Amino acid sequence: MTYNIAIDGPAGAGKSTIARRVAKELGYIYVDTGAMYRAMALHILNQGIRPEDGERIADACSGADIDIRYENGEQQIFLNGKNVTGDLRREEVGNMASRTSVYACVRQKLTELQKELASRENVVMDGRDIGTSVLPGAQAKIYLTASSRTRALRRCLELQQKGIEGNLEEIEADINERDYRDMHREISPLCRAEDAKLVDSSDLTIEQVTDAILRICREAGCR
Ligand code: DC
Repeated sequence: MTYNIAIDGPAGAGKSTIARRVAKELGYIYVDTGAMYRAMALHILNQGIRPEDGERIADACSGADIDIRYENGEQQIFLNGKNVTGDLRREEVGNMASRTSVYACVRQKLTELQKELASRENVVMDGRDIGTSVLPGAQAKIYLTASSRTRALRRCLELQQKGIEGNLEEIEADINERDYRDMHREISPLCRAEDAKLVDSSDLTIEQVTDAILRICREAGCR
């Protein structure tokens, strides 16, 4: 039997930072499913396909071999044999991922991979539909959120640290647009699973959020 922890929530709520820490603390593998959707989006972008072109996306999808490996405990994503991890965080790729993740062919391919991984390893998996659709039987489910202003501020800070000056209003508008799309798509939209515990990270430090989630996981029997 494997232990599965599902962390869902909107963009910029801190899922990956927290999930990585929780996984390290428990000795589980951290699975960033957003990175898989980003790799598929990169594949589609590389071929110059528009996000509205469902037919070409279905074709591109069957030609994409996405593989997940671990190097020194860090997830690496391979697209058709090439490590593309470094290209995935670009804004353009994230936006395309939000647009192309609405397609059944994309979701089916990636959820199969995610389920298979969780059946053989103890995982902390983060995304949008993990508790509701990918791992409905997960021992612990968390819905991690924060206000859109807080999430935009965090993103601005992140950009500043890279020497890029971001516009807070524009970033917040972008976040709201992405939330809307992720919450209103037809297949597996982002929503809180009935049995997911809600954690709002707006006024909490990373340590406080990590502790709160670890407590939930341990109470749920994760060892
Ligand atoms: O978490 P992220 O920003 O890396 O995710 C990028 C996009 O991928 C997100 O806007 C929606 C999509 N996604 C999804 O549909 N389902 C998931 N489990 C994870 C991500």
